[in-house]
Amino acid sequence: MPSALWLGLLACAAGDECNSLQLLQHRLDLAPSPVWPLKYLHVPKCGTSFLNAVVHLPGVCDVDAHFGLDKETLGRHFEKHFWRKCGQVCNASKFSCNPAATTHESIGSSYEAYKGHLVTMLRKPESRVLSAYFDPVWRHGAGTYNSVLEYAQGVRGLVTCQLTQDKAVDPLPKCTDLKEADAHEAARRLREGFVFVGLVEEWDLSICLFHKMLGGDCLFSEFENTRQNPNEYNTSELQGFNDTLDGIVYQEARSIFQRNLKLYGVSNESCQPCFQRAQLTADLEILRVRGFARPLPLDLAPFAVVLLSLLSA
Ligand SMILES: *[C@@H]1O[C@H](CO)[C@@H](O)[C@H](O)[C@H]1NC(C)=O
Ligand SMILES: *[C@@H]1O[C@H](CO)[C@@H](O)[C@H](O)[C@H]1NC(C)=O
Ligand SMILES: *[C@@H]1O[C@H](CO)[C@@H](O)[C@H](O)[C@H]1NC(C)=O
Ligand SMILES: *[C@@H]1O[C@H](CO)[C@@H](O)[C@H](O)[C@H]1NC(C)=O
Repeated sequence: MPSALWLGLLACAAGDECNSLQLLQHRLDLAPSPVWPLKYLHVPKCGTSFLNAVVHLPGVCDVDAHFGLDKETLGRHFEKHFWRKCGQVCNASKFSCNPAATTHESIGSSYEAYKGHLVTMLRKPESRVLSAYFDPVWRHGAGTYNSVLEYAQGVRGLVTCQLTQDKAVDPLPKCTDLKEADAHEAARRLREGFVFVGLVEEWDLSICLFHKMLGGDCLFSEFENTRQNPNEYNTSELQGFNDTLDGIVYQEARSIFQRNLKLYGVSNESCQPCFQRAQLTADLEILRVRGFARPLPLDLAPFAVVLLSLLSA
């Protein structure tokens, strides 16, 4: 893949790690091809707004830049709503839609078919479990448990289950006999079958990395998760509960993520243009909502917003 070579050379020229040949080799080992069509593995509570980044990639779905997969645009059950329409608006050779009935699909025996096309976001298992238990919209099966600790024990290994088995994970994982070997298999699948693995804890960097790897513009709608604090829960309520299986999978996700940050030269500094561009698209959105129908060059959007606010003051 020539672009990998360029990345290696650029990293080298920029004075970053100059063991670029080694990096390149990693990249070639890592980057499964072909990438298309992408397949989104949606782990519960790991960021529906990531879907915004996927569907806005060039040529993937016929949606406007201002289309947002969110409550404001599609209502409370926005994700289900989107999957129902997905087959009509997205190009099947670019994107494999998830079924509306099981948005948190398991990929167990479909793994071989999806291998090399998968993208996902993951999260620290304990935060994931707290976020699911306290979710104000969906119960994620929490209703049948008496405490968050019982719930955490009940859904132990959910991500391992989703990656390796065909059992429904929504509302509850029915994987009751998972072993450490299953978690290692799940980690292997992440490493070998995923084009992209992002982290909820590093949301902005994940979105930026995603675009560095797969192209497309940074849009405001993709950063909606940033507005929620992934560390808002009190983990001491879990009384030291440790999901060791999903912990293995999460550690693998972290190391894949760190490695890709390096490979693609992605950092908070190098992502500033992406973050600024996303902010510009937010400004354009404000203009659109205020009835400013004429498309503006992105660069003019902030001035127009200031102007509008002065006029309406
Ligand atoms: C879907 O994508 C394929 C591959 O990029 C392309 O050849 C085809 O023209 C696209 N179809 C539509 C309807 O855009
Ligand atoms: C977290 O929960 C524990 C146990 O319920 C409590 O003692 C502690 O004060 C809480 N911490 C915060 C920051 O709320
Ligand atoms: C969970 O246990 C594993 C293995 O025993 C350990 O490496 C890890 O640090 C623990 N995680 C937490 C959050 O306590
Ligand atoms: C990037 O910046 C954010 C917010 O300023 C910070 O929370 C995060 O730790 C930084 N990440 C890295 C890898 O430097």
